[in-house]
Amino acid sequence: MASLDIARARADTPAAENLLHFNNAGASLMPLAVSATLHEYLRAEENFGGYETAEREAAALDNFYRQAARLFNCDTGEIAFMENATRAWDMVFYAVPIKPGDRILTTVSEYGSNVIAYRQRARRDGAEVVVVPDDRHGRIDTAALANLVDERVKLISLSHIPTGGGLVNPAAEVGKIARAAGVPFLLDSCQGAGQMPLDVRAIGCDALSGTGRKYLRGPRGTGFLYARREFAEQLEPPFLDTHAAQLVDGGGYQPLPGARRFENWEQNLAGKAALGAAMEYALGWGLGAIRDRVYKLAAQLRGELAKMDGVTVTDQGMEQCGIVTFTAEQKSPGVIKESLGRRAINISVVHRWGTPWSYANRGLGDVARASVHYYNTEGEVEGFISALEEALKD
Ligand SMILES: Cc1ncc(COP(=O)(O)O)c(C=O)c1O
Repeated sequence: MASLDIARARADTPAAENLLHFNNAGASLMPLAVSATLHEYLRAEENFGGYETAEREAAALDNFYRQAARLFNCDTGEIAFMENATRAWDMVFYAVPIKPGDRILTTVSEYGSNVIAYRQRARRDGAEVVVVPDDRHGRIDTAALANLVDERVKLISLSHIPTGGGLVNPAAEVGKIARAAGVPFLLDSCQGAGQMPLDVRAIGCDALSGTGRKYLRGPRGTGFLYARREFAEQLEPPFLDTHAAQLVDGGGYQPLPGARRFENWEQNLAGKAALGAAMEYALGWGLGAIRDRVYKLAAQLRGELAKMDGVTVTDQGMEQCGIVTFTAEQKSPGVIKESLGRRAINISVVHRWGTPWSYANRGLGDVARASVHYYNTEGEVEGFISALEEALKD
């Protein structure tokens, strides 16, 4: 296992000195290289003007595409800069043609916003949304998925990692089934990007959406979309502007080639430059090494939580990632979060609407989510457990 220089990672993350930040699945802490890019870009806009800065900083903006292509093993033309993961996902989801009776196959651990979109397309377009059952680990049952694939299926859509648990769905196995059947595969890897290697060719997905602020450690209000070139070019985006498409004299318009047809003209360019820096920074550590350390810290945390009186770890999965969820008999997740917050410890509460089908099946309400990253330490896990013991007694 490659080891990371944690002292350097923490020196690059000054806030970690005073804060125990276990909310990396919410929004992680930006490292200095990323925040400096953001601040310097904004300063340049202040000094030179927004349009003028975009021209001066063309290389920093282009860096976003170059780093994303390295990160996901694709071409720069297959990447779009988006304002968040949901819109990135929506642009592909709503572009896939669906007529009454067509099927969308998805999984139990879907993200709440995706569930709303499935319901909307069911209501509006007559889509039949089929939720593939879980296997005994809570992952999508790939044998059941393979049995459900037939000519009615127009899309396989999967949350790689749910917002509300440590489970990692077997994306590459799903990709193999989708490829064999020739069915488009849309992967929401909002929680995977920056936490683990994601090679879109190896996974076999046609599109992958994600956000900047979580495991990638980029700024808020940034996201991205990978869309395989040939797939993107078959799709008519639900919205187009004069950046995404060109007006043609005499009538008509022509969407841009590749993934750029999904972009807006107006963008958070400081965020775009900073997200490029965040991707470059993550690649500098190595995504395999990041994953190994994140998984190890999360396993330590789960092990310690499981020993505590009244505490139940609610994560499913065979492979479990950096998201650790739990409930406690003594206190509600909201009270635990507040109480830890007073001790300079950040976690978040996942409401049952975050992962609605899975939580309903398991009879779960809100849960506490402590999500670790590679710059966190074994000592912080111990400190967290001691603080939680106190918080449960408050
Ligand atoms: C699995 C999953 N998908 C999508 C999203 C939405 O991301 P964004 O808020 O950037 O749109 C989240 C956010 O928590 C998520 O966990």
